[in-house]
Amino acid sequence: MERPLTQHIRPGETLSLTEYQKHGGYEGLKAALKMSPKEVQDVVKRAHLRGRGGAGFPTGLKWSFVPIGDDAPRPRYLIANGDEMEPGTFKDRLLVEGNPHQLIEGMIISAYAIQAEIGYIFLRWAYKKGEKIIRKALAEAYQAGLLGKNILGSGFDFDLYLHTSAGRYICGEETALLNSLEGKRANPRAKPPFPQTSGLFGKPTIVNNIETLCNVPHILRNGADWYKKISLSEDGGTKIFGVSGKVKKPGLWELPLGVTLKEVLEEYAGGMQDGLKFRGLLPGGASTDFLTEEHLDIKLDYAGVEKAGSRLGTGTMIVLDDKTCVVGMVLNLEHFFAQESCGWCTPCREGLPWTEKILARIEDGQGKTEDLEILEGLTKTLGPGNTFCALAPGAMEPLQSALKYYREDFERHIKEQRCPRRS
Ligand SMILES: Cc1cc2nc3c(=O)[nH]c(=O)nc-3n(C[C@H](O)[C@H](O)[C@H](O)COP(=O)(O)O)c2cc1C
Ligand code: SF4
Repeated sequence: MERPLTQHIRPGETLSLTEYQKHGGYEGLKAALKMSPKEVQDVVKRAHLRGRGGAGFPTGLKWSFVPIGDDAPRPRYLIANGDEMEPGTFKDRLLVEGNPHQLIEGMIISAYAIQAEIGYIFLRWAYKKGEKIIRKALAEAYQAGLLGKNILGSGFDFDLYLHTSAGRYICGEETALLNSLEGKRANPRAKPPFPQTSGLFGKPTIVNNIETLCNVPHILRNGADWYKKISLSEDGGTKIFGVSGKVKKPGLWELPLGVTLKEVLEEYAGGMQDGLKFRGLLPGGASTDFLTEEHLDIKLDYAGVEKAGSRLGTGTMIVLDDKTCVVGMVLNLEHFFAQESCGWCTPCREGLPWTEKILARIEDGQGKTEDLEILEGLTKTLGPGNTFCALAPGAMEPLQSALKYYREDFERHIKEQRCPRRS
């Protein structure tokens, strides 16, 4: 099984520039610099690489919206989104700490493809170790002529900076990220215009997730056909899947897209801890819909998870067991989302704290029968199309699916006027 992104990463260690080069590092860049920017975009399009930040947008297609050529606006920007504050998600941290040059190489190639001259790595504020590692790797890359003016004698210039986030979940939303990077309050922007044409400081900008960018060197080095072949799905490549919750071996594994959910849970995560039963999971971080036992045979790719009624999201799963109260779990998540709402639009600013309050009273044994109807109503009011960004609709996904699959749990709380799982 091919694991291009993680095969050289060892726990607690960081690959230096020399070690990375020994394993073929920066060969993808050399190949890219011999092509035209449009050819690089085409290879990535043919590879069927889709964004790993949550929405799964085709990467090459996104790049093709950036105007390039002599008359196009300058400068153009490329941003690596490493905010990673989605609860349950910790995959980009592994890539940054284990192999920072893979990200830097991916960024130089991607910048070349859209002819960007300036790049930023937007990193979660709490990733202090990652911050140090990136600073060191950037210095190594500048010294080796891989960044700055006339990269490897190609005539292409690209400067790359590290920016640490202010520490709010909303900073990961790509347009809020742009405002934050401009020194403004991190509120999302109305779209259109899209960042590809009017992004950072009003200039064409691409924001890609760190894992997305780490795939790019391997595609350029080994070709689009190879990349499609290492997947078990229509979507190209591998995905870093993660499992947290009460399984025997929580962790992260790079696996082909299209692997089954059951295989990840049983073979890699080792199944449930002794004495506990599987009840369900959130497949792609906290802002995705629950899947249950009936979905164990689904393929983990974008279409497979969508067909089952959820989203692949970040591919990092949170498992629910039979001793954990699902009302308490959803309350915990809605507390997070309510706290992280930027307050820009009314349904989210008012609706999320209301959702949290109702869930807290149900969990506390003070719930009323009509509360479930109010919660159902809130999942619609805060759903897609009613807010500026996807934070509120994302927050409704675990709630609406919990009401669908675990309604009895909510009803028992209300009927018995207590949490049945508390002694
Ligand atoms: C509230 C919120 C938080 C987000 N946080 C992140 C994040 O931490 N990292 C990330 O890559 N994308 C995050 N996204 C998605 C980004 O807006 C954007 O779609 C993504 O960075 C695009 O990269 P990709 O095309 O490579 O997936 C978030 C979206 C929302 C609505
Ligand atoms: S949905 Fe929430 S987080 Fe997004 S813009 Fe509106 S208030 Fe802000």
